Amino acid sequence: MKTIEDLDVAGKRVFVRADLNVPLSGGSITDDGRIRAVAPTIAKLVAAGARVIVASHLGRPKGEPDPQFSLAPVAARLGEILGRPVAFATDTVGESAKATVAALGDGEVTLLENLRFNAGETAKDDAERGAFAAELAALADLYVGDGFGAVHRKHASVYDLPGLLPHAVGDLIATEVGVLKRLTEEVERPYAVVLGGSKVSDKVGVIDNLLGKADRILIGGGMAYTFLAALGHEVGISLLQKDQIPTVLEYLERGKANGVEFVLPVDVAVSASFPDLKTHAPVTDFEVVDADKIPADKEGLDIGPKTQALFAEKLADAKTVFWNGPVGVFEHPTFAEGTKAVAKALLDSEAFTVVGGGDSAAAVRILGFDETEFGHISTGGGASLEYLEGKTLPGLAALED
Ligand code: 3PG
Repeated sequence: MKTIEDLDVAGKRVFVRADLNVPLSGGSITDDGRIRAVAPTIAKLVAAGARVIVASHLGRPKGEPDPQFSLAPVAARLGEILGRPVAFATDTVGESAKATVAALGDGEVTLLENLRFNAGETAKDDAERGAFAAELAALADLYVGDGFGAVHRKHASVYDLPGLLPHAVGDLIATEVGVLKRLTEEVERPYAVVLGGSKVSDKVGVIDNLLGKADRILIGGGMAYTFLAALGHEVGISLLQKDQIPTVLEYLERGKANGVEFVLPVDVAVSASFPDLKTHAPVTDFEVVDADKIPADKEGLDIGPKTQALFAEKLADAKTVFWNGPVGVFEHPTFAEGTKAVAKALLDSEAFTVVGGGDSAAAVRILGFDETEFGHISTGGGASLEYLEGKTLPGLAALED
């Protein structure tokens, strides 16, 4: 793959596909990690005299403009981080985009409106996607792919557009791929993986692949209850994917056969109802119970203190740790203890630690941990999981020479 240094960018219009899909609440950005992660690439292009056209998706609008998914707040924050104005185009390939790009001087930056306001961006039909990519290509001379969080998407700006312009990989993607190689090709052992999040079905592919690679797989979050149910335990009204139980049982068997240790919760924090994440109203009925004694009318919402200690012990001597997915409902203070304990265990270990996934990366920052103390905080959730599943990622394949 070519890098930015291989392109002659001075005075050229350079299209930078970023992933600026940041969490918003009431129009305000609650975690700007993805903006900060791509800023050095943009700053490098600015310093080299490029006319920089940044583009991204935000959320999942339905192929037409939808104000709640506007990138306007992101343009403002990007400008603050870069310390220079960022002109905002109110469309993607329309009059505003054309005029804003035409007005760009050397070393100036514009951000286009949400690419997914155009149905061609995500179209399954190759011709429809290709037509949108051609309109984007007309805005630029060169392409830099740096939206790591979206490289698993076969979308116009990720997959089709690089084929239409001389292209290179941005610094963020280069770093992310280098880290993922350390987890796949050059892994230092013991290699422990912590998986959380709500659904087992989102993680089956990665567990399948890790069964041949990891030494220990620690399971927390909503997905843990399907594992506990597979072992025959009552899980009350906890999240449960019954259809995944046969798969989980097969994984537990394969784990035994391959010498991969599954570490499941031994106690959990439960409540009769899901906590209010808007008001953070105190939860008065929560209690910690053993994982095989969840009351029939209660829901598991976090790992308990014994599990926190067990996870810490299983991570203490690891040389490599990959963590994807919070192990509890960390957005509510009552159920954030488990996720905090995992973050702390990563920091206490000597391992090369990688935090992957929008939710776990945001959790680390929102819970007040210093992100620079982790080996690497990935900007890609689905993208890093699919890489670890061994899949070919369309957005990386398209950046090959
Ligand atoms: C993400 O948040 O994982 C990426 O931005 C991709 O978003 P998507 O799942 O809506 O394609």
